[in-house]
Amino acid sequence: MPIETEAMREAHRLLTESLIYFDGDPVGTRAALSTWTAAENYADCFIRDFVPSALVFLFEGRYDVVRNFLRVALRIRDLQEEMEGHRGLPRVMPASFRVERLADGHESLHADFGDRAIGRVAPVDSMMWWVLLLQAYVHVTGDTELAADRAFQRGLQSILGVLLNDRFEVFPTLLVPDGSFMIDRRMGVYGHPLEIQALFFGSLNALSELLIPNEATTPMLEHAVKRRVQLTEYVRQFYWFDLARLNEIHRYETEAFGQDAANPLNIYPESIPDWVVDWLPDQGGYLLGNLGPGRMDFRFFAFGNLLSVIFGLATPAQSEAIMNLYEAQWSDLVGRMPVKLIYPAMAGLEWQLLTGSDPKNTPWSYHNGGNWPALLWTFAGAAMRTGRGDLARRALEIAEPRLLVDDWPEYYDGRHGRLVGRRANTRQTWSAAALLVAHGLIREPDRLAFWAAPAGV
Ligand code: GLC
Repeated sequence: MPIETEAMREAHRLLTESLIYFDGDPVGTRAALSTWTAAENYADCFIRDFVPSALVFLFEGRYDVVRNFLRVALRIRDLQEEMEGHRGLPRVMPASFRVERLADGHESLHADFGDRAIGRVAPVDSMMWWVLLLQAYVHVTGDTELAADRAFQRGLQSILGVLLNDRFEVFPTLLVPDGSFMIDRRMGVYGHPLEIQALFFGSLNALSELLIPNEATTPMLEHAVKRRVQLTEYVRQFYWFDLARLNEIHRYETEAFGQDAANPLNIYPESIPDWVVDWLPDQGGYLLGNLGPGRMDFRFFAFGNLLSVIFGLATPAQSEAIMNLYEAQWSDLVGRMPVKLIYPAMAGLEWQLLTGSDPKNTPWSYHNGGNWPALLWTFAGAAMRTGRGDLARRALEIAEPRLLVDDWPEYYDGRHGRLVGRRANTRQTWSAAALLVAHGLIREPDRLAFWAAPAGV
């Protein structure tokens, strides 16, 4: 990838410096390099943070780093310890891992499955990101042998098993606890958050492609296709929100029993927040943040929406409408740093109750309405996929000079992202990698095509 600007050169240097080695091979990137970090585990390689790094390495032909990462991440699943009181282990992938040097000079891998994380949150997204990265790797390199390897096939099969496991559910969406994905703190994101559903959709597509059919896997693969169909229809219909839907919900009948009820989740029109009525543009819409019995989370979640565009969970018309919303509400959703993670912020009693009075998540800070440059790659990816290169370039022009001057902060604060995040690390790797990926996508818009759902979905 040609390095054209000073910011790109710096971002590249940071990315190279962040590499973690195991037995002499690069296997991942540290989350942040600043000498001061908000928490000790920022020296770890987070699976989700590695995604934009991996994309840069794939774009540049440094396939070894991604291959090593995929192998190591698979291996560390086995490091999960037995938990007393749990029968079988769900074999999820850890949120992060690190390499520790022992006194005798040997190195060992240590992983965090939520047993060490602040608040003890277990990640659900890691295993899905691993599958998606394997798919990306296979497409870019043509190395189908890695995915066909027995250990990899076993891993894929077990991940599909975990995803399709029966739970206490009547919905096609995936039920998860609070803080089990990129937003890894209490934020009222338990239930069926959009980001998880987008990743679920993307991983079901990837698993259908990567898992080799045999006696054991064929029934699982058939199940996966059915689930994907159900999930797609459900999200496209019930998560979708635009002016027409708002009118419908505004006049919803409630307390209706039976299979044909128009308001099956019994959403009360009284739950529509004031802000959304005037904020929603005539042209434009988005996928809701969360949906469940009597519950519609009207907040706009950027990562889930942008991934839905990239993976094709949103229809082409919905994808276009999402980008129209960005254009119409640019200062709220992009502002001084692309992009706002959640809009709007929660305040007052709602903040107290839903975050547990978390001082890191005060209104317009961190997860609660902060702006995250790490999402720049998804914004560029979604914009390029919908033919909105103008928006991708505009966002990059805003981000690039600031990120360089501010030394790659993790997040920004304020209604419009004007301030560097109060407790943000600097030299945050995925902030730098995201800028490089965004540049790469503006040059070659089809570069993320490996994640787009197959035709007809
Ligand atoms: C924060 C973010 C999480 C990220 C981690 C490392 O905990 O919420 O998404 O993976 O930092 O950067």
